[in-house]
Amino acid sequence: MEKFIVTGEVQLQGSLKISGAKNATLPIMAASLLCSGVSVIHDVPFIRDISAMQEILVLLGAKIVREGNALIIDTTNVSKIEIPEHLMREMRASVFLMGPLLGRFKKVRLSYPGGCDIGPRPIDLHIKALEKVGAKIRERFGFIDAEAYKLTGGDIHFDFPSVGATENAMMAAVLAEGATIIRNAAREPEINDLQTFLNKMGAKISGAGTDTICIEGVSKLFATEHTIMPDRIQAGTFLMAGAMTHGDVTIENIRPEYLFSVLDKLEEIGAHITTAENYIRVKAGELRGVDIKTLPYPGFPTDLQAPILSLFTIAKGTSVITETIFENRFKHVDELSRMGAKIKVEGRTAIIRGVSKLTGACVAAPDLRAGGSLVLAALAAEGVSEIESVYHIDRGYEKFEEKLQSLGANIIRRRT
Ligand code: UD1
Repeated sequence: MEKFIVTGEVQLQGSLKISGAKNATLPIMAASLLCSGVSVIHDVPFIRDISAMQEILVLLGAKIVREGNALIIDTTNVSKIEIPEHLMREMRASVFLMGPLLGRFKKVRLSYPGGCDIGPRPIDLHIKALEKVGAKIRERFGFIDAEAYKLTGGDIHFDFPSVGATENAMMAAVLAEGATIIRNAAREPEINDLQTFLNKMGAKISGAGTDTICIEGVSKLFATEHTIMPDRIQAGTFLMAGAMTHGDVTIENIRPEYLFSVLDKLEEIGAHITTAENYIRVKAGELRGVDIKTLPYPGFPTDLQAPILSLFTIAKGTSVITETIFENRFKHVDELSRMGAKIKVEGRTAIIRGVSKLTGACVAAPDLRAGGSLVLAALAAEGVSEIESVYHIDRGYEKFEEKLQSLGANIIRRRT
């Protein structure tokens, strides 16, 4: 077990290059299974979720070599179609393997996925999409068996624009016979990155980034090379850290349009934002509370709800956050209260009354993004804080403490 020890009240200053996006890498790694051959993926972050996905691909028969930031994935000898239960439990993103394995082998067996405990995360939309392209699915004894004699194009309409279900549907449909249309598709930028990767493999997909995606099935795909898009959630977290510590932070290697809803809110809160084609700079002003509702892209991302809640704890006045995507995403609130924050949660709404200062405390990261938000609070707080259960943070933030140290933060990792 490891913890972070943070001495707060240091203004963060400087610039930081953002690494590749976790949420783009995971489906793209899964998509590499769609063909036999050697794919090269650049800018793959060093985080625990990626290692877990790597472990699953290796168990299925892939050979993977890491060379610096690149993953070289050889899927020539992949032959297994069953994902071990303990790995499914570790990471929800393992559900992405359904589409590609079904596409390539017409068969897949897995148990229900795990991941962050942020509320019920059903997979009904994934299953519905796979059925629409011809899969027969049986769910029993905690396992899901999907099989198809052949996959055929279908018309998929999602009741809710699920990111994962959209990606799974795309990956199942690329090798189906005929055309597939996905309506009310999720529009997150990571879906564009998946479309680019699949098209480089020889797929014929258009529409990613809009709510209608069209896929013309092809008979074969080929291994390819790709560079992962930068992580907009990481970028947003560091921008909030800059604003919260009254600092001056520039994030490089990020396209501002990925974060329009976030930048808009940061300006409303009182931060000064400057952008160019591939960087964003935040300079803190006097922070004031505002209201936020999390929504599917291009709305405010649920993954940045926890970090911005931390920021609101020291913003002047009252802020209200409504979480519409996940049910149980205020688990950092009790921990923030230990640091002096004034927050009341009613169902999916949190009401935050800004205080002039947080004070350091011993807290534990309840999940990935909530863990990140506690580090932000500690950076702004008076005195020393200890953040336990750092393994949650390591699932999604690459070298978090090193990046913060490069901006001047006083944070160290210690084994407990
Ligand atoms: C992805 C992201 C995650 C982000 C989330 C929302 C990855 C690896 N993870 O997760 O970081 O927080 O998008 O932006 O990309 N739902 C159903 N049935 C389904 C699928 C989803 O009801 O079959 C519901 C979920 O319970 C949740 C909502 O839809 O309430 C959003 O989930 P979804 O967009 O699927 O998120 P993930 O793909 O799991």
